[in-house]
Amino acid sequence: MAVQNFEYLFLQKIDQEIKIEPKDWMPEAYRKTNVRQISQHAHSEIVGMLPEANWISRAPSLKRKAILIAKVQDEAGHGLYLYSAAETLGTSRDQMINDLHSGKAKYSSIFNYPTLTWADMGAIGWLVDGAAILNQVMLCRTSYGPYARAMVRICKEESFHQRQGFESLLVLSRGTKEQKDMCQDAINRWWWPSLMMFGPKDSESTNSDQSMAWKIKRKTNDELRQQFVDMAVEQVKILGMTLPDPALKWNEERQHYDFGQINWDEFWNVVKGNGPCNKQRLAARKKAHDDGAWVREAALAYAEKMKNIEKQKAA
Ligand code: 3HC
Repeated sequence: MAVQNFEYLFLQKIDQEIKIEPKDWMPEAYRKTNVRQISQHAHSEIVGMLPEANWISRAPSLKRKAILIAKVQDEAGHGLYLYSAAETLGTSRDQMINDLHSGKAKYSSIFNYPTLTWADMGAIGWLVDGAAILNQVMLCRTSYGPYARAMVRICKEESFHQRQGFESLLVLSRGTKEQKDMCQDAINRWWWPSLMMFGPKDSESTNSDQSMAWKIKRKTNDELRQQFVDMAVEQVKILGMTLPDPALKWNEERQHYDFGQINWDEFWNVVKGNGPCNKQRLAARKKAHDDGAWVREAALAYAEKMKNIEKQKAA
């Protein structure tokens, strides 16, 4: 059958909301952009463990420590889920990890900011995981089957991440003056970088048009960002805190909140590797990979041994 027919059948499936599966014919560009997005999503989950892990040994109580450990472990699982989804498109784990370590592949800019106080754990849970949930709920309807299915499980755990973060800030917001100040300081520092998680404005989004056409994305960067702002403005009132944007104002005509200008120079600077913690994050990932080499070697040696035993039994 000519490629045009395959292309036609592929687009028919997309149009009829039939999931594209690993063994289906797909345009190479569809494969490529899914590997790009899914692997970078996975990298974000794994690198995203680092800022929070910094506070596991400093958590203010055993209960908070246990919650934070559970959350960081979840992120590791999300990363492995997503690497497995990307592998169904023909890339390898080694290739993806090498691309991360070489700087060729991206991960979310948000994880290149430092976690300075315990309140940052709450701000990350509420704002970062809150932003991730909006994006990931949308991705439950992405056209590539393994990616959409991975999202369903991840979203369930993400909701816990967001709730535990908000609850932690709620406790601080009802505490001493120092705790209230720590809570507001963390919100001030994490608000704008959280808005940047949704990507550049639509007019500068190089992938969006095609990703929307192929239903990889179901909402644009700006649509999701606006949804997040509208949600957070109401939630912050419960904390008795403020968001660091004097331009925030309800727009009756738009039925949305207007908000201030994002610092796109900062965004692109962080994406290009010049954020406060980019070098530290990549160095930590490379060290963890090197330190874990013996585990991979032992697992491969064991698998080889089991394979030989099976072969001898079969002979
Ligand atoms: N950080 C780093 N790079 C970013 C970025 C960000 N916040 N936003 C966009 N970019 C990059 C894109 O990857 C793209 O570069 P590339 O072509 O080399 O990949 C470039 O900037 C232009 O952006 P586009 O809008 O054209 O790119 P996309 O169409 O891919 O949209 C996206 C960007 C919305 C992040 C999309 O890739 C996406 O939805 N990814 C899946 C979700 C994800 O990765 N979330 C990251 C956080 S995961 C997380 O928070 C886990 C939670 O448990 C804490």
